[in-house]
Amino acid sequence: MQPATDPSTFEPWPDHPILDGVFGATANPLRQIFMIGAMWRLAQESRAGKVQVLEVGSWCGASALTWGEAIQLYFAGEGKITCVDAWQPYVDLQTNVGIVDHDMDAALLRGEPFEMFRHNIGFLAAGIDVEIRNGWSNDVLPLLEPGAYDLVYIDADHTYAGVRTDIENSAGLVREGGIICGDDLELQAGECGLSILDEQPSVDKCYDEARDTVFHPGITKAVGEAFGRVSSWAGFWAMQKTPDGWATVSLRGMTPHIPSNIPAQSLMGLKALLMQEGLF
Ligand SMILES: C[S@@+](CC[C@H](N)C(=O)[O-])C[C@H]1O[C@@H](n2cnc3c(N)ncnc32)[C@H](O)[C@@H]1O
Repeated sequence: MQPATDPSTFEPWPDHPILDGVFGATANPLRQIFMIGAMWRLAQESRAGKVQVLEVGSWCGASALTWGEAIQLYFAGEGKITCVDAWQPYVDLQTNVGIVDHDMDAALLRGEPFEMFRHNIGFLAAGIDVEIRNGWSNDVLPLLEPGAYDLVYIDADHTYAGVRTDIENSAGLVREGGIICGDDLELQAGECGLSILDEQPSVDKCYDEARDTVFHPGITKAVGEAFGRVSSWAGFWAMQKTPDGWATVSLRGMTPHIPSNIPAQSLMGLKALLMQEGLF
């Protein structure tokens, strides 16, 4: 199927993933290295069978390609990625007025991200299974098998209510020793004020003056309430399931691996970041 564009601009699908502009906009390039690191961490522990990754929020497949590369690297290509996404407009555009929010909403209305996703996951290595669960996470996650996943990645609705519900519905899906993780945690609870959520509960991101950074207050609050202080690297956060609850995750010793879908211009600053994290 071709992208739903004006037929006069019709072009054949390229023989590479399409992650330009808004189609790759949500995938922070540097975080992908730590996503691969989380898979490296899992691979250090003995386990049987195919590795099972559950992704909540897939957009055009950039993160799914990263999980696929990690499966190739650390699990000999033996794995399955279950992708949950509604591929329907979801951001409250009254509150969230950024250009990217509007562009994503418009693309979803045109049905393009799902088509891009299907094109892009065609570049996963043969042998990696993908299960597409097209629906709202609130409906789909309760249908999945408890304890069946080695890693659950949450990157869907970034409002406080959305993230809180996704964490609640995902926690029981992770096996003991498995990892729950997610995107866009720039600041942890206690590092910033969250009063904006009282006035604008559906806000996606805002600016913290004291730290001079844009962050996602809903994610900060929901993750903080669920786990307290979590392991995080450049906005990617993770916790590991133990018999008693959740523990932080160490990536010390991992070899930084840059996923092939990351454009070269995104690599500026990577060395500094890895040094800051003590990984270089
Ligand atoms: C930030 S994007 C995901 C980006 C993707 N993980 C990546 O790195 O390329 C968020 C995605 O979550 C989906 N989404 C938002 N709210 C959702 C919900 N409640 N249930 C299912 N999907 C949802 C959107 O359709 C969108 O594709």
